[in-house]
Amino acid sequence: MQISVIGCGYLGAVHSACLAELGHDVVGIDIDENKIASLREGNAPFFEPGLPELLRSAGETGRLRFSSETADARGARIHFIAVGTPQKKGENAADLRFVDAAVESLLPYLSDGDIVVGKSTVPVGTARRLAERVTAANSTVSLVWNPEFLREGFAVQDTISPDRLVYGLQDPAGSPGPAAVLDEVYAGALARETPRIITDYETAELVKVSANAFLATKISFINAMAEVCEATGADVTQLADAIGLDNRIGRRFLNAGLGFGGGCLPKDIRAFMARAGELGVDQALSFLREVDAINMRRRNRTVDLAREVCGGSLIGRKIAVLGLAFKPDSDDVRDSPALNVAAQLQLQGAAVLGTDPQAVDNARLRFPELTLVKTVEEATEAADAVMILTEWKEYRQLDPHWLGQIVGAKTIVDGRNCLDPLTWRAAGWRYRALGRP
Ligand code: UDX
Repeated sequence: MQISVIGCGYLGAVHSACLAELGHDVVGIDIDENKIASLREGNAPFFEPGLPELLRSAGETGRLRFSSETADARGARIHFIAVGTPQKKGENAADLRFVDAAVESLLPYLSDGDIVVGKSTVPVGTARRLAERVTAANSTVSLVWNPEFLREGFAVQDTISPDRLVYGLQDPAGSPGPAAVLDEVYAGALARETPRIITDYETAELVKVSANAFLATKISFINAMAEVCEATGADVTQLADAIGLDNRIGRRFLNAGLGFGGGCLPKDIRAFMARAGELGVDQALSFLREVDAINMRRRNRTVDLAREVCGGSLIGRKIAVLGLAFKPDSDDVRDSPALNVAAQLQLQGAAVLGTDPQAVDNARLRFPELTLVKTVEEATEAADAVMILTEWKEYRQLDPHWLGQIVGAKTIVDGRNCLDPLTWRAAGWRYRALGRP
């Protein structure tokens, strides 16, 4: 199928490459010319496992093009909207200006029978408003809301083999036509019996934000338990293992630690609360305020723990921070708990040396005052304390004996509960973690 994808960020670049790989003819469009230049050369503008290989192989088929001109969407039958919806400055609500601009810029290039497919995460009500705009410009064009559930670090896998497909249609009972066209786009996944839910716009929009709200709540639930564990000497990791064995609860997303961050969960729960307020149902989501607060307290608690292991004051203490990205296998530092803690430590007088396998450059752009280095050896040399703030595989597998020769003091704070305390203590380390004795 002839497809255009408007927006080539974490979502759109991966979506473009995956659709081309699946056999479609795709043009990815973005107003950022640097991003387009990099994608044209087959280089991913951000770190995402599998994406460079996919850009190369899809590029070689001739089915994947990139452009900075929306006019190049002309001729495509399906147009995906994959631009960002960041948090508005100084407000909880989502900023829809990029979505609105993307749809507006596309209107002159739509042909009869085209389908516009929204993938961006938007406040409920947006799709219906955009559908009116699109049909006013051309009454034969329809709009589908098809939320995306990809996780950074697994974006390629999640796009090719999603858990489920959700199509929000203007009139799901009366005219399901656009669903059949979208089925052709996702023929591969559907052949593997991926569940597909056809619904109205509002439900489709809410599926996405409520899924993220649930995930955020699950993380904050276990982090709230970690606070109670800290007050009682219990171990939150064993607690999570034990409750997770109940199938109704499940162990995934019950990793206590520094909490959630990134470009999605924090801003999505805030935008959801803001939208609920506009709809007069703010009480229904007031618990998300607590979810947000529990999450933010973890960052402060981690700084307090650092102060504690440094003997009551951070001033002049040399602290090695391992991990700056908001999660492993990503170079994304948007609302990263790790970078937030590193910055707080530095601002409170510690001499922080931070490192990360992929996120050093992005972290430097966001927080230029931090001293960032390339390797674990450089970061930890003569350190008074080592802090693991993002659970990259290379940090989970660190050898405590090897690291013990480099540091100044064998003190480690495991901000992600990703190390085995017994192994580290047996190697002579003082081990501290959130929610564990
Ligand atoms: C999330 C959703 O998972 C995805 O479905 C949606 O489309 C976009 O938002 P992502 O932002 O890539 O994806 O990250 P995710 O893997 O959900 O992790 C979010 C944050 O939660 C990370 O900071 C991670 O470290 C933290 N987390 C995750 C925990 O603290 N504990 C856990 O048990 C799981």
